[in-house]
Amino acid sequence: MKRKDKILQNRIFLVLIIFFVLFLFNYMNKKNFQETVESDSFKTVECSMRYAEKYLMSLNNAEQEGQIIFQPDVSVILVSKGNTFELNKLVTDQEHSRYVQTEFLSIGKGKDLLNIPQTKANQYALKDDNHQLRTFIALSSKVGDDVLIVSKNVSHYKTFIKNSELLFLGLLIASIIMITIYTIHQRRYFYSPIEELTDLAYEYSENNFSHHKETTSNDMIGHLETAINKLGKVLETNSLMNKRERELMTHIYDSLDIGIIYVTKENIVFPFNVEGKDYYTAFIKSDDQEKRIKDSYRKLIHEAIVNKKNSHMEVQQNHLIYDLEFSPVASLTGVVIFIKDITSAKQLLSIREDLITNVSHDLRTPLATIQGYSEAIKDDIAETIQEKNEMAQIIHEEASQMNHMITRLLEVSSIKAGESTVNKKPVHLAEFFNGVMHRFSQTLKSEGIQCELEIAYNISYFSMDADKMHRVFYNLIDNAIKYAADPRTRESRFIKITVNFDGLIDELFVTVSDNGIGISKESIPYIFERFYKDDKARTKPKTNGSGIGLSIVENIIKEHSGTISVKSLPDVGTCFMIRLPLLDDTIE
Ligand SMILES: Nc1ncnc2c1ncn2[C@@H]1O[C@H](COP(=O)(O)OP(=O)(O)OP(=O)(O)O)[C@@H](O)[C@H]1O
Ligand SMILES: [Mg+2]
Repeated sequence: MKRKDKILQNRIFLVLIIFFVLFLFNYMNKKNFQETVESDSFKTVECSMRYAEKYLMSLNNAEQEGQIIFQPDVSVILVSKGNTFELNKLVTDQEHSRYVQTEFLSIGKGKDLLNIPQTKANQYALKDDNHQLRTFIALSSKVGDDVLIVSKNVSHYKTFIKNSELLFLGLLIASIIMITIYTIHQRRYFYSPIEELTDLAYEYSENNFSHHKETTSNDMIGHLETAINKLGKVLETNSLMNKRERELMTHIYDSLDIGIIYVTKENIVFPFNVEGKDYYTAFIKSDDQEKRIKDSYRKLIHEAIVNKKNSHMEVQQNHLIYDLEFSPVASLTGVVIFIKDITSAKQLLSIREDLITNVSHDLRTPLATIQGYSEAIKDDIAETIQEKNEMAQIIHEEASQMNHMITRLLEVSSIKAGESTVNKKPVHLAEFFNGVMHRFSQTLKSEGIQCELEIAYNISYFSMDADKMHRVFYNLIDNAIKYAADPRTRESRFIKITVNFDGLIDELFVTVSDNGIGISKESIPYIFERFYKDDKARTKPKTNGSGIGLSIVENIIKEHSGTISVKSLPDVGTCFMIRLPLLDDTIE
């Protein structure tokens, strides 16, 4: 039952009790009074009757008249031979006496009194309360032929009843008014403040501290208001602190590049921070509504809980490598898993290893050649001047190759460090591409490779950093020549450059394709990484690549907000596709 209903029920109950007590009191009072009055009156009448009989007999015996004095409130009437005589000369209620003599004895029950048989006489009593409000008690007796009637008016008892009813009504109204006043008072000073305080307490429990209740009195309710107010303020302060702490902790956890997930002892996974949310799907069973961790990790989780020790694990998922640290939380009998994506770190490690291997290998080879030929010149091994010149030429070429490598290394590190800036200017595309191709004219001629340029009619100028873009296409053409197919396997070897402008999306689309040796499917995702070389290319003699070119290309394209992608089939050919967005109005 609700609190309000209960209060209402109590009030109704109280009102009913008060009404019941009042009614009972009234009833008992009336009843008691009636009985007392009736019995007293009867006794008086009975007594008077005996006196009257005696008196009558004394009259008959010729004793002296008037010796007996009746009580003044009884009427003593003698009916003798049809005539009525008032024996009590002192009767106070003359009206009553007259009524009995004239009206009462001439009708109904009153008339019967006169006809009572001798045997029943002296006993015949009558209570009359029919005649208006007049109520009286009458007794009759037969003395010889005469009938003696003694009666007493008890109508004042009716008046009392009437008065007591009025009193009862007054009390009833007074009690209703008092109950109403009491209810209003209770409601105003007791229930309403308690209800408000209850609502306030609920608000506080829901972390809503926008309301307070001022102390309105110095009583029990006032003390309760003060206590709730203090409680609210303490809770508000704590909640504010907790909120700030929580926000701070959430911020810290979310800014970590480590994913944190929590696994309960029932193996249910909960992500703890943003990174954790990104990672955790890789660790839960697929299609598991309960989000339970995969079986392969359960052993480690169990061990971490039992041994109460952190443990590590390295896993590979979807081409990514993760380092997992299982840290048991003894009080919660669960395990926190710290997930770190170490793919780049691992790659960096392998790149570093590759770098050392490649650089030492690629520098040692020309160095050894330089050393050998320089010693030969020093020892005068060359027999002819021409032979000596050839040796010097080889030394020069090898030194140039080393220089090329070192320049590349510096170049790529400067781009990665963000030192370079893009200096965009409108570039005439036909001039630009012809310029790049011209640098390879001798090589193309000696290698017998055809190089073709095709520029769409709708574009002639495009805004870009000409120097940097020169490096991009230089590298791509250099690769196409370096990784050209064996002439014996091709009727003709070619390189084709196409330039188009997509007016719908304002984008320059350039392709550089060849029919060279192609790139293996496994290597394609990695060729833009620094120092990466396809194994097939490594085995190709005379390539002397350092695996840096495409990483420079990709960085420059990114600096132009563009994209580069590749399509290649081993022993068929390769096609690099570059998309450059038009960022200003330099198109003509
Ligand atoms: N056109 C191509 N045909 C076949 N393989 C290619 C082609 N272009 C690039 N590759 C492959 O991609 C790898 C990376 O190329 P990248 O230009 O980065 O390095 P590199 O040419 O070996 O050395 P660098 O350009 O630094 O002198 C190459 O080693 C080669 O295996
Ligand atoms: Mg290259």
